[in-house]
Amino acid sequence: MEKTLPYGWYTDPENLRQEQERILLPAWHYVGHTGQLAEPGYFVTEVAHTPVVVTRDRYGALRGFVNVCRHRGHVVASGEGSRETLQCPYHAWTYGLDGRLRKAPRSEEEPDFPQDELGLVPVAVDRWGPFVFASAGPDPEPLAQALGSLPAQVAELGLDVDSLIHHSRWEAEIAANWKIVSENFLECYHCQVAHPAFSELVDTSPEAYVLSTDGHLSTQHGPLRTVTPADELPRAQFHFLWPNLGINIFPGRPNLSIGPIVPLAPDRTYRFLDYFFGPDVEPRWIDDLLAFDDQVGEEDRVLVEGVQRGIASGRLDHGVLMSHSEQLIAHFQSLTAAALGR
Ligand code: FES
Ligand SMILES: [Fe+2]
Repeated sequence: MEKTLPYGWYTDPENLRQEQERILLPAWHYVGHTGQLAEPGYFVTEVAHTPVVVTRDRYGALRGFVNVCRHRGHVVASGEGSRETLQCPYHAWTYGLDGRLRKAPRSEEEPDFPQDELGLVPVAVDRWGPFVFASAGPDPEPLAQALGSLPAQVAELGLDVDSLIHHSRWEAEIAANWKIVSENFLECYHCQVAHPAFSELVDTSPEAYVLSTDGHLSTQHGPLRTVTPADELPRAQFHFLWPNLGINIFPGRPNLSIGPIVPLAPDRTYRFLDYFFGPDVEPRWIDDLLAFDDQVGEEDRVLVEGVQRGIASGRLDHGVLMSHSEQLIAHFQSLTAAALGR
């Protein structure tokens, strides 16, 4: 039987520091959507401990920068908005949406003020349909390469991501290590036990519920137990893009939710999920799905927080994995261990 990762990896601050540097910094992270970006406009986010501002100029060009002032390090922009410039609140240095330093009060009194060299530091930003991603690492691979077969699998299901409209963002802090939250996402062995409503909707039996991996992508497919003519999507698709991105597509009407699993501390995780729906989906259907998903999310919170408490006791060194039902966890763990050089 395959073992889990050593439990010390879920509680040790030094382990998290290495994960930040070797796993999260080089990765692409979902940060928001094009609906947050007027032309011109911006929104701020954070990837791998790096404050980032994403901008779109009046010609539609998408860019990203380290959101730290080149003067003395104040964070430049906050929130989101529609404007042509970003102004630091400390001494009012003003940057264009292209990152260039436009104006620094009293700079004309400085001999040889190197204005051209004091623009915001760029980070990689790109998008898949309405979904905006950023990477703060040096030389990230192209986003299309990082996404692998994800866009093709979603298209194959019959979902056109460009037609989706953002509905709302759900946010939560969870008292568990980010890997426990990720591993919980990667198996449905617990579904029949812990998610009765979900298992009534989706066939989670081992025969019907299909698990697959493709590079950094892990996918779970589950058919609807009862398909009606109104159901445009007959199957659920739950994707996990290593290291920490979850994407949920429920059966029924056009829908997708996407969001990262972000470590705050060895035993604390931040999650957000942006919900998108097709333009013609009835509000009633949306409300039902959100209520349903909230309930599943709450059931999962109790589970992962229970795991963290058990692991943190320090009484056991590791657990074991079921070879079929937990194969996606084994895949997650081998990618994680390899990235850490262990
Ligand atoms: S720190 Fe930004 S203007 Fe001084
Ligand atoms: Fe669950």
